[in-house]
Amino acid sequence: TNRTFTMLKPDSVEKGYIGAILEKINAAGFRIVAMKMTQMTVANAEEFYAVHNERPFFGELVEYMTRGPIIAAILEKENAVEDFRALIGATNPADAAEGTIRKLYAASMGENAVHGSDSDENAAIEAAYHFSGREQF
Ligand code: GTP
Ligand code: MG
Repeated sequence: TNRTFTMLKPDSVEKGYIGAILEKINAAGFRIVAMKMTQMTVANAEEFYAVHNERPFFGELVEYMTRGPIIAAILEKENAVEDFRALIGATNPADAAEGTIRKLYAASMGENAVHGSDSDENAAIEAAYHFSGREQF
């Protein structure tokens, strides 16, 4: 098995979707290895999404990700990164497949409910950014 990292973004917390999204994650066979509610600072978000810092939407993205608390979690499953990206659906919820988390719970490209790591390498980096070893089970 391997691991991925997720965030239930501020819009999911604001709208009361935490429980529903965690149910989908459990039903899809992911084991929760670590989880907490936290809020990213502007510096955290700029570092976390540094790969996008030249993009026109970067300021909006940082404002969105820092405007309220998130749920950060590490998830374990066979083929975790790829299977979780399939479970959340396309970045733009308008393009997301039926039944995916973004189709069900995301409002737009700029408020798309959840994050999922895009590679095993990034999953490990992102998990370590948010959780110490003692917070991982
Ligand atoms: P993450 O799992 O959050 O990394 O999303 P992703 O991998 O599906 O998309 P990507 O890494 O390309 O973009 C990161 C995030 O930037 C997206 O999830 C969106 O929240 C935001 N984003 C991407 N494109 C746009 C855009 O055109 N406009 C706005 N406002 N936000 C965008
Ligand atoms: Mg991404």
